[in-house]
Amino acid sequence: MTRQRLAIPFLVLTLTLVSSILLRAGGSAEPAATGSKAAAIERGKYLVNFGSCNDCHTPWKLGPKGPEPDMTRALTGHPAEMKVSPSPTLEGSWGIAAANTMTAWTGPWGVSFTANLTPDRETGLGDWTEEMFIQTMRTGRHQGKGRAILPPMPWFSVNALSDEDIKAVFAYLQSLPPVHNRVPAPIDPPEGQ
Ligand code: HEC
Repeated sequence: MTRQRLAIPFLVLTLTLVSSILLRAGGSAEPAATGSKAAAIERGKYLVNFGSCNDCHTPWKLGPKGPEPDMTRALTGHPAEMKVSPSPTLEGSWGIAAANTMTAWTGPWGVSFTANLTPDRETGLGDWTEEMFIQTMRTGRHQGKGRAILPPMPWFSVNALSDEDIKAVFAYLQSLPPVHNRVPAPIDPPEGQ
């Protein structure tokens, strides 16, 4: 009699405990998934800062302490409205020059303009897949299969990263606000050079 009376509250207590454990496990599945995405974005941000992507993909301006990347235009690439003057004649030891913005470069390959890395669908990386991004850094070709990527894009340095880290860089870039900025196509070097 006493044993039976005790058994019922014990059963209720056990069921409550079990269900609360199950609920907690089920409830945490969602935040854990978003948590790992947030961690990848955070890791990507760290790698982008270390990898100097802002040095070339963010237009520089003259600040109070001298030239610096204009972070209000972070990673938007060469500004579409900026028309570059003809390349300077470089002589002797000098073979490469950069525009004031650090977003246009001239050298034996002609003139290259840094890409818009924000996720704008028309002018940035908005329609890129993670696989395209990895293959670009692995092969040095546009989207992993197109034309050869021109200097001074250090794709071979990014190639040293693991797939996981390149994915993190991509996740961070895709988390930026999309900015519409159509970067010009590269200019070939003059004939005979
Ligand atoms: C020294 C300057 C420089 C640095 C640093 C740099 N880039 Fe670039 N990047 C360029 C230039 C120039 C281009 C355009 C090359 C071309 O048109 O072939 C480019 C193009 C790209 C492209 C487009 C490639 C394609 O397939 O069209 C991606 C993506 C890219 N860079 C990502 C990055 C990332 C991520 C970083 C940081 C880890 C980075 N870049 C650092 C200069 C740079």
